[in-house]
Order: sequence, then structure tokens, then C-alpha cells
Amino acid sequence: MSEGLATVAYIGATILFILSLGGLSNPETARRGNLFGMVGMTLAVLATVLGPRVSAAGVGWIVGALVVGGAIGLFAAKKVQMTQMPELVALMHSLVGLAACLVGFASYVDTSTVFATPAEKTIHEFEVYVGILIGAVTFSGSIVAFGKLSGRIGGKPLLLPARHWLNLAGLLVVIWFGRVFLNAGDHGAGMTALLVMTVIALLFGIHMVMAIGGADMPVVVSMLNSYSGWAAAATGFMLSNDLLIVVGALVGSSGAILSYIMCRAMNRNFISVIAGGFGGGAPAPAAAGGAAQPQGEVSPVSAAETAELLREAKSVIIVPGYGMAVAQAQHTVNEITKILRGKGVTVRFGIHPVAGRMPGHMNVLLAEAKVPYDIVLEMDEINADFPETDVAMVIGANDIVNPAAQEDPASPIAGMPVLEVWKARTSIVMKRSMASGYAGVDNPLFYKDNNKMLFGDAKKMLDEVLGALNG
Ligand code: TAP
Repeated sequence: MSEGLATVAYIGATILFILSLGGLSNPETARRGNLFGMVGMTLAVLATVLGPRVSAAGVGWIVGALVVGGAIGLFAAKKVQMTQMPELVALMHSLVGLAACLVGFASYVDTSTVFATPAEKTIHEFEVYVGILIGAVTFSGSIVAFGKLSGRIGGKPLLLPARHWLNLAGLLVVIWFGRVFLNAGDHGAGMTALLVMTVIALLFGIHMVMAIGGADMPVVVSMLNSYSGWAAAATGFMLSNDLLIVVGALVGSSGAILSYIMCRAMNRNFISVIAGGFGGGAPAPAAAGGAAQPQGEVSPVSAAETAELLREAKSVIIVPGYGMAVAQAQHTVNEITKILRGKGVTVRFGIHPVAGRMPGHMNVLLAEAKVPYDIVLEMDEINADFPETDVAMVIGANDIVNPAAQEDPASPIAGMPVLEVWKARTSIVMKRSMASGYAGVDNPLFYKDNNKMLFGDAKKMLDEVLGALNG
């Protein structure tokens, strides 16, 4: 493939990636957005493999790597449960970071590149240094995020004494070794500086994510998404690949926008979270101990009674959470919605921006079950309607409906906007036990006078509710 044709293919792929991102912004166009992304990626891979920069001998290696990588990807995609998606995504981000590091080291040890001027050489080495720096932070941070999301590492924030000073010292050492690297007389000295910086960057990535508490993990996920984009862009600079630069910048900036949206949803400061908890982005450990313990009696309810309450209601708001994903109850939810709407009940869904374990988690599940998009509303659109609602049905959600966020300033989730289900005439919480949610915070909602608990697996209980509604 000629240089000109490859460039045209790259421009086509870039346009498709932009259309893809545009499509993904709305559930109704998301499928098309995904399709654009797939076509764009196929075009990009073909133009790269068949392009002028890959020799005939190299094609065999690339095809071999594609087959191995593709087979692993296919296996992972088939094996992974929907509830494991966030940890898989974190693992994918770590691979982008690792790739940036490996490309950086490879392009530093590769002495075949001839630079026209010393300035050109310095610019290339700067790209290598920054690329490995971003790649290493992304790699280790994503591995820790994977550990936290999969439960292999506890959700409690690790708050080292003087951690901000440690981060600052690390930053200064990285800048210092950057200077040493750029002025290194030979490859040996340069390599030492590069290795020292890589170790510090790896430690920084671990420290940054370890310092973030359970409830702040959504911000970390989207932030690492953004970092992986910048790591890809840095790889593009090192390889002088325009498409990789553009795609990396698209992922990096859209991830940054998503992080901002997440921060707003959690009422956290964007800058403080980006800086790894600098200035109190993570909840203080004392807060957990200081939070008031909810007290009182809970009133359990049966599936038949739940069906009766739903049947008698004029308006119902369903609030799904992580438990609905675990139980895979979305199809039964849709069946119940159809029956209630058939009986003239107004049914709507309230979606919290951090419900579940990944951005848009609930929207994906409800779309899969074919719940109409127009009755699925964002938290801000529906929160004011709870006082006029007869029944708020919470399905496997906990943190996102926790009134402690508003009522208890000592709570680790204080200030986080939540769905105010307790303002409905009756709220019903469907979960298996009194266990706390992801943030590990007790929930006073369970003890409110107008709240009822439907204990059991969400799918099983909803099947019983459906049976009672049909009966
Ligand atoms: P959680 O607060 O985690 O609560 C989910 C509840 O579902 C649990 O209390 C659990 O109680 C119940 N549950 C689990 N399996 C169930 C099943 N089979 N049937 C019925 N109930 C079941 O979830 P949420 O309210 O959706 O809030 C999300 C949390 O995750 C927030 O803290 C958020 O910050 C965090 N997080 C979000 C993201 C993103 S991007 N969305 C990423 C990382 C972390 P039982 O064990 O008693 O059943």
C-alpha cells in the first residue's frame, strides 16, 4: 500500500472514530457508534500492516501477534461475566500502559534511527521519557484498580503519612532524572535514568490508586481510561504514527471529560482526584469510624405483598444497582415494567451516574432487556419526582440510595448526590441481606418507617413478584 493510500485510510479511520464517540453518547445510537469504531479499527490495522512502514518480513510477525492477541481477546470476551467487565477494562488499560513502556524502551535502544539535527534527537528522547512515564503510571495504577474492582485488594484507602510530600518528592526526582536522561553522554547513563524514573512512576501509579477509597473508584476507572489514551498518544509520538496520536488524544480527552462528569456526580474535586487524592479527594479513614450507626427496626415484605403494592400504585420509580447486574434480573424487570404499564401504572427508571461498577452499566443492561429508552431517566431528571411517587423499587442498589450522604456529614459518602427514594410514599429495597454496598457504609434507608425490605436474590424475588402480578 502506498504512503498516500495509507494516509487516506488513516483519515477515514479517524473520522470513523470521531463518529463512533458521537454515537456512543446516546443509547439509541450506541450500536451504530460501536459499528463505526469496529470498521475504523479494521481500516487502521489494515492500513498499518499493509502500509509502507512494514516490511514484507515484518508482516508475518504482526499477523502472528494478531492471531495470538485476537485469540486471547476472543477467549476473554466469551468467558467474562457482565459483572466482571470493569475489571477487564482496567486490565486492558494496563496493557496500553505496558505497550507504551515497551515501545519507549525499544525505541531508545534502537540505534538505527538517524536524526537530522541534535534538536530532533532531544525531542525524540523527550517523547520516550514522557511516554514511558505515562505508560508506567497507567500500567501499575490499572493493575491496582483491577485488584480493587475484582475484590483481590480491599477497597479501604491506603493513606501513607505525608503521602502528598512523597508524591511531590517523586515528581521532583522524575524531573531531575529527566534532565539527566536528556543530557546523558551515552546509552548506559540514559538507560539508568530511564529505569529509575520507570520504577518511581510504577510506585506512583500504585500509590495513587491505593490512596483512593471504594466510593471514589468510578473516578479512578474513568481517569485511568483517560491516562491510557494519553499513553497511546505518547506511543504515537514515539512511533511517529499520526493515527495513534489522534486516537490517543480522543480517548484521553473523552476519558478526562468522563472523569469530570463522574467527579460532579460524586461531588468530588476534579483536580484533587486527578492528582491522586491530593487535598482530600479520598475519604478520611476517621470518617468511617465517626459515622453514625443506623438504628431501628426493618420491615421485611414478601414478593406477594410487593406485587400488591405495585399493582395499587399510580406511579413507580425503579432504581437499579449493582445487585441487578449480579442477579441478571434486567429481563424480569422489563417483564414487570410491561405488565404494570399495561395496567396503566406510570413506570420510570432512575439511573445514578455511578450505579453498578462502570459508567453506563445500568443503561447497558436495561437496553439489553429492551426497556424503552424514554422511561430511563438520569438522577437529575427524576430526583424531584420521588415525593409524588407511590412506590420506589430499589433493585440491588445500596450506596446510590443512601440518605447518609445527605444526613451524616461524618459519612465517607457525605456530599455525594443520591437518589432520594425515601421521599416516595413507600420504598422497597430488594437485596439479599443487610450487608453494606461497595463503599462499605451502613444504610439508614433500610430503617426508615416507609421503607420495606424484600430479602433474596433479585432475579428470584422478581420472578416471584412477576408470578404474583400474573396470578
Ligand atoms: P452497591 O452500593 O455496591 O450495592 C449493591 C447491593 O446489591 C449490595 O448491597 C448487595 O447487597 C446487593 N446485591 C448483590 N448481589 C445481589 C443479588 N444477586 N440480588 C440482590 N441484591 C444483590 O451498588 P450501587 O448502589 O449500584 O452503587 C455503586 C457503588 O459502586 C458506588 O459506591 C460506586 O461508587 C461504586 N463504583 C461504581 C463504579 C461505576 S463507574 N459505576 C465503579 C467502581 C465502583 P446484598 O449482599 O445484601 O445482597
